[in-house]
Amino acid sequence: MNALGLGTVANSTVNYHYKPTTLHTCSSSNLNPKPTPLSLSMATPFNLSQPIGHHDLLIVGPGTLGRLVAHKWRQEYPGCQVFGQTLTINHHDELIQIGINPSLKWTKDTIKFPYVIFCAPPYQSSHYHADLREAALCWNGEGSFVFTSSSAPYDCNNNGLCDEDTPVVPIGRSSRTDILLKAEQIVLEFGDKGAHAYWLEKGIVESRPDHILNLIHYEDAASLSVTVLKKQFRGRIFLGCDNHPVSRQELMDLVNKSGKFSKKFEKFTGTDDPLGKRLNNSRTRQELEWEPKYSSFAHFLETI
Ligand SMILES: NC(=O)c1ccc[n+]([C@@H]2O[C@H](COP(=O)([O-])OP(=O)(O)OC[C@H]3O[C@@H](n4cnc5c(N)ncnc54)[C@H](OP(=O)(O)O)[C@@H]3O)[C@@H](O)[C@H]2O)c1
Repeated sequence: MNALGLGTVANSTVNYHYKPTTLHTCSSSNLNPKPTPLSLSMATPFNLSQPIGHHDLLIVGPGTLGRLVAHKWRQEYPGCQVFGQTLTINHHDELIQIGINPSLKWTKDTIKFPYVIFCAPPYQSSHYHADLREAALCWNGEGSFVFTSSSAPYDCNNNGLCDEDTPVVPIGRSSRTDILLKAEQIVLEFGDKGAHAYWLEKGIVESRPDHILNLIHYEDAASLSVTVLKKQFRGRIFLGCDNHPVSRQELMDLVNKSGKFSKKFEKFTGTDDPLGKRLNNSRTRQELEWEPKYSSFAHFLETI
């Protein structure tokens, strides 16, 4: 058995943060023989006969593991569409035969998927990290994005016990683990599904910088919802926000200054798009006797 690291980021809708979880699992080791890449210039797009559905899945690297995932996913969600992003066209005919719609061409600007799993190994492409970013950009943020890796980053080479809490190899000790740790970091950064994560990834955004945003942490949105549910109100409207509205520019200045992200945001370039609003929910807080755990986006950044 070979250990696989699975980093999952995902799921939920609003606002500044969703804390990603990391899981680990095992897979069988019957690997396919590795083909030689050919025809890299022939970029074939997905053949779309119907719109992307709520349970459709993109498998980046539909090899041994990815094909097994496709099979199981279809058992879970009969009728769903499964797509496969590959490095070459070498296996496209095989993939079509087993019902995986193959492509060489990234579709992040045109088609996004609710579920994406990255099963491509690090040693077949020289653009592994770039491909991982492309894959994450193909995810629409709704279902999940799962990244499969290896147990190599765990710092344990003496036959000792190793579990999810085992420290990882420090960066710089080995190029093999550096590649995997960097990949993990990229994926976890995509797990911050707030607007700041999208903008950070884009670098330059065509929106005006002074538009005001109102934020709430996912955990606070959840705790507020539970509070309302428990109190059994009828016909009432409550408001959820952190009472610290920030402009787009202020938000990204906080991100850049935090030192918590490997990328740097560049700029907003918009000038005439609409402005926003400044929310305050003091009445909701008072009535529900509820306060957010994260008092502001700045507070949240201090905690990560
Ligand atoms: N020791 C370990 O920890 C261990 C052991 C086995 C597997 N794993 C992990 O398990 C996962 C899957 O492995 P596997 O054995 O199923 O792989 P595999 O059978 O070799 O299949 C690889 C697939 O990925 C595609 N691919 C390769 N690089 C790509 C890229 N950069 N972008 C898009 N597609 C790419 C290939 O495309 P083509 O069809 O064009 O070739 C192929 O479809 C990987 O994360 C691997 O690292 C880990």
